[in-house]
Amino acid sequence: MKPISCFILIYRSEANDLALRLAWQYTGHKDIITLDNAYHGHVSSLIDISPYKFHQMAGAEPSQHVHVALSPDTYRGKYREDHPDPATAYAENVKEVIEEAHKKGHEIAAFIAESLQSCGGQVIPPMGYFQKVAQHVRNAGGIFIADEVQVGFGRVGTHFWGFQLQGEDFVPDIVTMGKPIGNGHPMSCVITSREIAESFMSSGMEYFNTFGGNPVSCAIGLAVLNVIEKEDLQGNALHVGGYLTQLLEDLKKRHPLVGDVRGRGLFVGLELVRNQSKRTPATAEAQEVIYRLKEQRILLSADGPHRNVLKFKPPMCFSREDAEFAVEKIDQILTDLEKAMVLQRPEAAILETGHIKRKDASDENGLVHPSNGNSHKHTSTIPLSKKTKRN
Ligand SMILES: Cc1ncc(COP(=O)(O)O)c(C=O)c1O
Repeated sequence: MKPISCFILIYRSEANDLALRLAWQYTGHKDIITLDNAYHGHVSSLIDISPYKFHQMAGAEPSQHVHVALSPDTYRGKYREDHPDPATAYAENVKEVIEEAHKKGHEIAAFIAESLQSCGGQVIPPMGYFQKVAQHVRNAGGIFIADEVQVGFGRVGTHFWGFQLQGEDFVPDIVTMGKPIGNGHPMSCVITSREIAESFMSSGMEYFNTFGGNPVSCAIGLAVLNVIEKEDLQGNALHVGGYLTQLLEDLKKRHPLVGDVRGRGLFVGLELVRNQSKRTPATAEAQEVIYRLKEQRILLSADGPHRNVLKFKPPMCFSREDAEFAVEKIDQILTDLEKAMVLQRPEAAILETGHIKRKDASDENGLVHPSNGNSHKHTSTIPLSKKTKRN
């Protein structure tokens, strides 16, 4: 194993910002490739590489040094589950993005991606995609940054890091870590090769951060690692996550609103659609599920570009009983919603082999899409669904 260097910081955005600075200094290049719908943090340098955010601003132009590649989403993206080799196809898109940048006289410093896209809609990149992307990016003199701020520390169950799902032959040049590292305590970390860290230090500008590497945070980080190991939370993520996915798969068989279930360990997405074949996003319905769950003291949120993917990223001590409890409630809400939709438009509902067959209702049933800019406001206007007290 090559020697590595580690920077202990406070905020996760600091970690990604430092990763960019390392990449710029090491490569001498300026441009960054990011994935569509990605979110990497709230400071200016990261809003620039977060289409999830900058797409929300009407008329906003991405920085000329930022290039957006296709999200490797095999359910809703350009290359889907029926494509013979989506990993190569999506990686080829990154190669094209690099070529376009070169034509404009730009050079690539880094490609950055979450190992599994969270805000982007719980997207699981096809196996082998990162290796191929890394090859294209490194050939262009850039480096690969894996953002593990949400998905690291055993959550994916089979591995400690999300990027390991791609295969043992893949190692990023920089890994950024955050949220679970301090189990709520503000802390983050950047891991990179000694070579990249030394090139940064050799710039002559000292890296200074008042609370960086402070002993209290380091003690908390060590305690978290101990608990993950002693309580086998990674094993729990594998087993309970597998069980949760299976329960959700069962929901999919019974509910026409469920378009896709995808997950690894305790990182799971349930994508709601109004029409199975067209995959019309069921945005308002997803918001309704969230608000009705909240009334039953279950917190869930929806994400993805259409805010129609219910995200499951529970605490790592989540149990089988917790999974059953949550899925039972979702089952009930979906049943109510589907009934309401059928009642609203009886002419469109045909019961066929036990499933409700509906026309695409997106334009004609009066549903209002929540604004893309605010996934947290309840703007559902689903007709006939029980009006519930909101607080
Ligand atoms: C993938 C990812 N990277 C970076 C960040 C930035 O973290 P923070 O808001 O703690 O700075 C977030 C925050 O949600 C995130 O989800």
